[in-house]
Amino acid sequence: MTQTFSAFAGAHVPEIDSIMRGFLKKNSASAKLFEAMDYSVAAGGKRFRPLLLIAAAEFLGQPATAGVYQAASALEMIHTYSLIHDDLPAMDDDELRRGRPTNHKVFGEALAILAGDGLLTEAFHLVSQADLPAEAVLAITQLFANAAGANGMIAGQVLDIQSENRQITLETLQKMHRRKTGALIRAAVAAATALVPHPAEAGSALLRYAEHLGMAFQIRDDLLDVIGDEQTIGKKTGADQALHKSTYVSLLGIAGAETALDDECDHAAAALQQAKAALDVTGQTMLDVILKELTEI
Ligand code: IPE
Ligand code: IPE
Ligand code: MG
Ligand code: MG
Ligand code: MG
Repeated sequence: MTQTFSAFAGAHVPEIDSIMRGFLKKNSASAKLFEAMDYSVAAGGKRFRPLLLIAAAEFLGQPATAGVYQAASALEMIHTYSLIHDDLPAMDDDELRRGRPTNHKVFGEALAILAGDGLLTEAFHLVSQADLPAEAVLAITQLFANAAGANGMIAGQVLDIQSENRQITLETLQKMHRRKTGALIRAAVAAATALVPHPAEAGSALLRYAEHLGMAFQIRDDLLDVIGDEQTIGKKTGADQALHKSTYVSLLGIAGAETALDDECDHAAAALQQAKAALDVTGQTMLDVILKELTEI
């Protein structure tokens, strides 16, 4: 029997959290900076990206080792930095995140910017020291830099800001979502494929799974901003409309966004089937369970 998502999370999140917090503490020369970084890390969140990395490695036959956990934790540090900066007044100007006041509301804008800078930089510091072969460290550094950088998440965030108060095409919206959110989610799976030897078809099918999963994730996030519950999502709803953001809901309406979410989930499921066939895997895996999480809105 496959675990539930929450049992899987319960089994791995304590180690991810302990690596992130321990590494940040050890490497912070400023107690205040550590406090600001730790505030956002300790606030929790679903830990979707590190859990996806661990699940993808397990799918390929590699149980979580110290190196897998370190790579997963570094990815969550990059993600957490992106949230702190995303919430800043100059960006989405949000006051609630992970059920707590946003970082800049507590520490001020300057320290929030620096906490983000610290998390991003220390993520790569952690990867550089990971208990992994040198080639794996290099591969993961490249994957994470490419996904988080000017060709990935940052480019998506720029498109997001540029798409406020204007009508964009569905194609542009897809490009924005693929970069701002899809890139880090794809990087979780790509990191697993860099760590574990596998047949080529399994790797390419898994990456297709991750790409559709990433799109589904942001479409769902767009939907939750409109129909979600503040308590459950830990952030203010209605934020996208207040800033006249371009989202799946603003372009296609709620029903249209729900259909697009279903389509992406179907494509992800088909790609996962191909990955399973390439590896002779039968039955439900944690990657099925993770996908199913996104279909339940
Ligand atoms: C929020 O990410 C930002 C998006 C890319 C949609 P998550 O929904 O993964 O946020 P946490 O980590 O659970 O707080
Ligand atoms: C965030 O997209 C993408 C990031 C790179 C952080 P959103 O702006 O929609 O994320 P939320 O809704 O604030 O979590
Ligand atoms: Mg944003
Ligand atoms: Mg935002
Ligand atoms: Mg959002």
